[in-house]
Amino acid sequence: MSEVHKVSGHHAAAPAAHAAETVPYLALRGLGRDFGAGLAVEDVNLDIAKGEFISLIGPSGCGKTTTLRMIAGFVQPSAGVIEKDGVVIASAKRMLPPEKRGMVMIFQSYALWPHKTVAENVAFGLRLRKVADADVRRRVTEMLQAVRLDALASRYPAELSGGQQQRVALARAIVVRPAVLLLDEPLSNLDANLREEMRVEIRRLHDEFKMTTILVTHDQAEAMATSDRIAIMNKGRLEQVDRPFALYARPRTRFIASFIGRTNFLEARCNGTDVTFDGFSIARQHFDLPEQQFSGAVTFSLRPQSIGMEGRTAVEAAPSGGAALRLSATVVEAAFFGDYWEYVVRLGAGGQSLRVLSRPNETFDVGQDVVLNVDPRLMAPVL
Ligand SMILES: Nc1ncnc2c1ncn2[C@@H]1O[C@H](COP(=O)(O)OP(=O)(O)OP(=O)(O)O)[C@@H](O)[C@H]1O
Ligand SMILES: [Mg+2]
Repeated sequence: MSEVHKVSGHHAAAPAAHAAETVPYLALRGLGRDFGAGLAVEDVNLDIAKGEFISLIGPSGCGKTTTLRMIAGFVQPSAGVIEKDGVVIASAKRMLPPEKRGMVMIFQSYALWPHKTVAENVAFGLRLRKVADADVRRRVTEMLQAVRLDALASRYPAELSGGQQQRVALARAIVVRPAVLLLDEPLSNLDANLREEMRVEIRRLHDEFKMTTILVTHDQAEAMATSDRIAIMNKGRLEQVDRPFALYARPRTRFIASFIGRTNFLEARCNGTDVTFDGFSIARQHFDLPEQQFSGAVTFSLRPQSIGMEGRTAVEAAPSGGAALRLSATVVEAAFFGDYWEYVVRLGAGGQSLRVLSRPNETFDVGQDVVLNVDPRLMAPVL
């Protein structure tokens, strides 16, 4: 049996990072690249398990494409190494050429051959590898079935929709059975509906062909929906690598907290027993604070979805106590987005504004006095 953990089911596989004796399938160690104008990528360390689906996201210019190109073999690192199965494939001294890495990279501009049919486009890589005719035909047919293009095999690229062309590009890459599939913004030319369809498709193909997949994207929903783990880059460095939910629930830094979803920040001071905010305070034991010492000034991230809201009168009757924070506030803005309400409220104590997202039936008026319910365990301390 192969060592692939992740065959079906999203987010189910544990990367083999904790098994000390296991050599990671792909390892980036102290990886850096200097193009002459400062480091485009700096000290990137990342272990990727065989069969894992990992996304690389971050603001424009943060070094995603450069990192992917170093893995693919199109850019040489100026510092650090890349290992595959424990063997160095790239460093400042050594470069295994791209075609010897068992990887395929799909670029954002995936340029199909305009004068070849769909089937000929998909067959191209196999012909290049001198695969026997009968095998080419069989594998192309299977591949076109896998991407649901078998009915369009004899069309030309100009006769296809954007999503169909994208699937030809995927089929053309996957038909050569790469161990590693590298995708740089593969869906950025598509409209929202097609993107959603195609990201399901990419994940399905990943599972079916048991590839290790690295996806670079601007679209955090795309990364969330497809990936076992997401690596977030900022200014050339990896700032956090985690499962999608962990990034949302436990962002390590302010940057991560505001890059994944939206959030509120609250400043506090921590001592051994209490956490004191502007105008209110709650026992430290109610927080889910990590092992590391948190004392002095601490910033907390609190998601707008994690704040419950109710009318002031309901609360006056409700029993108080317990570990929840109950805070008086006034609604200052309300906007309805169909699936949810977005409110801005001002806290009675301290006067800070917070964003609150509520369900469609939770209707409040601007100017209304409300009470916010906050579970301190949902407040994540960030650096
Ligand atoms: N060949 C090159 N020569 C010089 N500088 C480069 C080269 N390639 C990239 N850079 C620089 O390195 C930095 C990182 O670029 P990179 O393409 O990796 O960013 P990115 O995260 O992929 O951005 P985007 O989301 O806009 O595609 C940028 O400042 C870019 O200008
Ligand atoms: Mg890029």
